[in-house]
Amino acid sequence: MILAIETSCDETCAAVCTVDGRLLSSVVASQIADHAAFGGVVPEIASRRHLELLGPAVATALAEAGVRDDQLTRVAVTVGPGLIGALLVGVSYAKGYAFARGLPLVAVDHLQGHVASLQLADEPPVGAHLVLLASGGHTLLIDVDDEGRLTTIARSLDDAAGEAFDKGARLLGLGYPGGPALAALAGRADPTARAFTTPLQGREDLAFSFSGLKTALALAVQRLADGDSTARSELAAAYQEAIVDHLLERAALGLVSTDRTTLGLVGGVAANARLRERLGEVQATVAMAPLTVCGDNAAMIAIASRSLLPLSPPRMAALDAHARSPLG
Ligand code: KG4
Ligand code: ZN
Repeated sequence: MILAIETSCDETCAAVCTVDGRLLSSVVASQIADHAAFGGVVPEIASRRHLELLGPAVATALAEAGVRDDQLTRVAVTVGPGLIGALLVGVSYAKGYAFARGLPLVAVDHLQGHVASLQLADEPPVGAHLVLLASGGHTLLIDVDDEGRLTTIARSLDDAAGEAFDKGARLLGLGYPGGPALAALAGRADPTARAFTTPLQGREDLAFSFSGLKTALALAVQRLADGDSTARSELAAAYQEAIVDHLLERAALGLVSTDRTTLGLVGGVAANARLRERLGEVQATVAMAPLTVCGDNAAMIAIASRSLLPLSPPRMAALDAHARSPLG
C-alpha cells in the first residue's frame, strides 16, 4: 500500500493506492476560499494552511481506504515544482512519517504525476505516447517513450494555459480560479462572433504563447459597452476557443514531429469541457485524465511513484523541495 502526499500549490492532498495501481482513496482539501479574496494564491497562506490541513487529510485518506498505517509499504511525496514553502510542508511531513515508521520514501516530480494521471483513465495509453500537459504553472508537450522515459519537447514562451484562463477571467471581472468561471461565462456563446487570432500561427516550432492573446482580450474588454452581457460571453468564448485552437495545433505538430499516434491530455486545464470536446479533432488515439484527477491531487503522485525507486537512507534524510522541474 502506498500513501502519497501532494502540497505543491493550494490543494492539500493525500491518497492511498495499492502497489498494483488500484486507487483506494484520494482526498483534496481545497484552499480556494482562503485565497479567493486575494484574486490568486498567496504563498505564505498556502504554506500555513497545508500545515493545518495535511494531518487530517492523511487520516481521512487512510480511513477512506480502510488501510492502517502499519499496512503501508511506501510513502510518496511531491518534491517540486511548485511553491517552495508549500512543498516543504509536504516533504517534511512525508519524511517524518516515513522515518517514524521505517518506510521507504519516494520523491515524485509534480509534472510526472500529472502525466501518470492518464493511468487512471478508462483506457490508459499503451506504449509510447505524447502528453499535452496544461495547468496553471505549465503548458508542455511531454514525450513518453516505450520505457516510460519522459522528454519535454515544447514549453510556453510566456504564460501557461491555466494562467491565461485565470488572467482572462480577471480581465472579464470573474473570480479565482478563472478557468471554470471563464468557461461558464463562455457557455454556448458563439466563439466566432469576436474571434481572436490563434497565437504563433504559421510558426512550425514547438512552442506555446498566451501573453499576446491576453493583451488582445484586455483591449477588447476596454472597448466593450457596459452591460453588454452577450458581448462579454462572446469574448469569453472567443478567448477560450483561441486557447483551445492553439493547444490542439501545437499538439498536432508535436505528434508529427515525434511520430507518436497516441495523445494524452492532463493538468488542470484538461478539465475544460471545450478542450475535451474538441480533442477528437486531433489525428490520434486520445486519452484524457479523468476529471477527478485533472487538477492537483495525490492519486497521480501515488501512481507515478510506482515506477520510481525509493531514496536511500542518506538521500532521504537530505531530501529537499525544489521550485523548478527538469521537465518544466
Ligand atoms: O493542475 P492544476 O490544478 O495546478 C497546477 O499544477 O498549476 O491547474 C490549475 C489551473 C488553473 O489555472 C485553473 O484556472 C485551470 O487549471 N482550470 C481550468 C479549468 N479548471 C481548472 N481551465 C479551464 N477550464 C477549466 N474547466
Ligand atoms: Zn498541477
